[in-house]
Amino acid sequence: MRAPANLIRNRPWALLGLAALSVAGTHAADLPHVRAGDGAEQLLVHGQPFLIRGGELGNSSAGTAAQADAILPAMARLHLNTVLMPVAWEQVEPKEGAFEFGILDHWIDIARQQQLHLVLLWFGTWKNAFSEYAPDWVKADMKRFPRAQSAHGVPLEILSTFGTETLRADSRAFRSLMAHVREKDRERQTVLMVQVENEMGYLGPGRDRSPEADREFDGPVPRELMAGLAARRTELSPELAAHFNPRGGVWREVFGEAANEVFMAWRYALFVNSVAEAGKKEYPLPMYVNAQLPSSMERPGEYPSGGPHPYYLAVYRAMAPAIDFYAPDIYWPEFEYWVKRYQVHGNPIFIPEAKMDSAPWNALYAYGAARAIGFCPFGIDSLRPPAGPGDSEPAIMQVYAALSNLEDMLPVAQNAGRTRGLVLHANSPRASQSVALDGYVFEASLSRAWSTGSLLAHDGGMLLIESRPDEFFVVGSGLTVKMSRDPDTDAQMSGIASIEEVSRAGAEWVVSARLNGDQSNQGRQLTMDPRNIRTYRVRLYSGPQ
Ligand code: DGJ
Repeated sequence: MRAPANLIRNRPWALLGLAALSVAGTHAADLPHVRAGDGAEQLLVHGQPFLIRGGELGNSSAGTAAQADAILPAMARLHLNTVLMPVAWEQVEPKEGAFEFGILDHWIDIARQQQLHLVLLWFGTWKNAFSEYAPDWVKADMKRFPRAQSAHGVPLEILSTFGTETLRADSRAFRSLMAHVREKDRERQTVLMVQVENEMGYLGPGRDRSPEADREFDGPVPRELMAGLAARRTELSPELAAHFNPRGGVWREVFGEAANEVFMAWRYALFVNSVAEAGKKEYPLPMYVNAQLPSSMERPGEYPSGGPHPYYLAVYRAMAPAIDFYAPDIYWPEFEYWVKRYQVHGNPIFIPEAKMDSAPWNALYAYGAARAIGFCPFGIDSLRPPAGPGDSEPAIMQVYAALSNLEDMLPVAQNAGRTRGLVLHANSPRASQSVALDGYVFEASLSRAWSTGSLLAHDGGMLLIESRPDEFFVVGSGLTVKMSRDPDTDAQMSGIASIEEVSRAGAEWVVSARLNGDQSNQGRQLTMDPRNIRTYRVRLYSGPQ
């Protein structure tokens, strides 16, 4: 489409708008996209902030059309608004060049019926380091699609990042997928984002030892990488900064002991960037890459080395401009630590995989403390909504129900920095934690029986939202929360005006109980239900002493 000459003459900036016109008449700004904001990035869908209340399906749960009929209605009943589902390369291109999207189309149709969105997980060249999801015709032809090699020269079940034919074939398949999604879904936008590959990285000691890799590793570090890291000097992780020697020449001189892992990160970043770029040419949805994180004692190669691990994120950010953000899969107990490692400038927090048993409380932390755009327990289809009255609701279902009641308020509060979150477990290193908001300190500890002092819950968490001055919505369970004026703000005295347990009916909040007396320890604290996620509205007062 060409801009009329007089429009360009009179309003040269109009060119910018025209440049943003892409995808067969769809304005890029009308597609789901991530709006920048320092620590408050937001996913916009049809122009409105959208919080993903998600869950990722098991690896073998989306391989047939019929599975959608059974799974998606259950997901909607769990109050998810988005399901993360694998799309396997072997499934969509069983014969080279012949693409089949019938199964995906059915999932999109059923998701629409259930008012659900989808995030597609492109299981292409790599899934958890390995190449199981590549089609047979790729796996069988090791000459055309070379494998990474071990230190002993053994070809692994991992396609090499140096396979130019592999990159070409994966990019073509991904591009066909995105073209298909554009045609089917551009108007409705059921599909929100795409994850490119899955937990990539090299498994085994050292690095890929194929002849191409050795040749490259013996040469100088490419200029683009050196320049990219130098330009990002202030955002290098301490671990990378400690190794980076900008005056060095070959890999070992520049990156010391980290050379193998940075080398692999560079290769994976280049590869995944090209695949994403090919897809975005057809349909530029937000695209992200997920990372398998190491446990505390693991060495690179025991976890996939060269994935977008937080130590080497700057390598990806320098080499992969087509990737919108990086997302940690968090199965380890140090949930808050790993989230914080991804809170780097411009990177929205999105947790595509989280461990199910601590998910309800970690979700509250993610949305409240890290202003996450989404959170997704892994294996969500293993949960079932209650079969009938009296059957208990899974805790993550309760969290998502509470968040769906707050879906107008929460993104606005996140954007304004008016949310907080915390999580506590019986084995947490600290017995209490506090957060400050709007001149008040909220100090939380796990609830205990007043008579015996024993814990009433082993896990607790809360999401705190300031709805207006002196008024807060608190979603959570298991905690006792004391609230007082923040001495850093002023020396006023303060107290609880009211605590109400609330739920939502349309636009109105309905009060189901007003908590006082024994339930508020005589007006001194919020005592949450130890087992069930509830929403409380708390009003505080303060004044001169
Ligand atoms: C992380 C992977 O990304 C998932 O696909 C799955 O394999 C889980 N690990 C573990 O079940």
